[in-house]
Amino acid sequence: MKNLKKTFSSLEEEILHYKKKRNAVILSHFYQDEEIQDIADFVGDSLELSRNAEKTKADVIVFCGVRFMAEVAKILSPNKTVLLPDLKAGCSLEESCKATDFEKFKNSHPDHIVLSYINCSAEIKALSDIIVTSSNAEKIIKDLPLNQKIIFAPDKHLGSYLNKITNRRMLLWNGTCVVHETFSERELVKAKVRNPDAKIIAHPECPENILNYADFIGSTSSLLKYISKDKNKKFIVATEPHILHQMKKNEPNKIFLVAPGSDGSCACSHCPYMELNTLEKLRNCLLNLSPEINISNELILKAKKPLNLMLKLS
Ligand code: 13P
Ligand code: SF4
Repeated sequence: MKNLKKTFSSLEEEILHYKKKRNAVILSHFYQDEEIQDIADFVGDSLELSRNAEKTKADVIVFCGVRFMAEVAKILSPNKTVLLPDLKAGCSLEESCKATDFEKFKNSHPDHIVLSYINCSAEIKALSDIIVTSSNAEKIIKDLPLNQKIIFAPDKHLGSYLNKITNRRMLLWNGTCVVHETFSERELVKAKVRNPDAKIIAHPECPENILNYADFIGSTSSLLKYISKDKNKKFIVATEPHILHQMKKNEPNKIFLVAPGSDGSCACSHCPYMELNTLEKLRNCLLNLSPEINISNELILKAKKPLNLMLKLS
């Protein structure tokens, strides 16, 4: 008897087949493996990915990123099936901020509003007044009255950078990103001495001692725009190194160096959560429609309010 099982010449071909069958869209963050970025329908920063998840006509959203990003897609498109290739793809910022602890902190400052960085759980979003990303936080904060008291969670480095550029004294939650905290000031200075013609560009999740050396600071998408707009040929990049894939694609004639960690290599600055997603897991989730992001309707309603406000204000 004829074998009716469809065979594929590559994993990529299989993914595209099941993507069509499921009427799915694949969204990817710039920190994903190169082959995932290349097969995605859209690659972007947190704000762009949120907007895409909100407006897509697909029935299924496969989110190649981390859990809080997939949760945002579910909150903004609750009637769609949202898949995350590996449910363990969390985030150190999200982990640093548990809802019960944060609620106590919030309640002890009743005269403050809560601004939360999008890198937090749906429960923290539900306790927040406005959500921000690294690409819209400055604008949103500057539009608030100067005397408005604000709690900013969960990233203390992004919070202290925003305090500096907006001249505020927001109360900061003590969370950090394991990736951006790993860059070494000493090794960065060495890299700059060896490459005096390079400009340093950094994500605002980096600590201040790294940001102090940066010629430009911005979200992943802003860094990508900057390297194209700027005339310089060489850049030392202080963010998760998978972004270099898009940088090299967009500017093949420019040189990009990864900012070093404390052992002088770039390896320790890979995001251990983003790395959990693989092409195989992407294929499997399209095949099985699982793992799926499920959030209660009550939580969706509460978390949607500050997210919608962010989309309106940015
Ligand atoms: P952006 O892509 O919004 O700059 O965020 C970076 C990040 O750390 C995502 O986890
Ligand atoms: Fe979280 Fe940092 Fe990884 Fe982004 S890079 S997902 S902030 S741990």
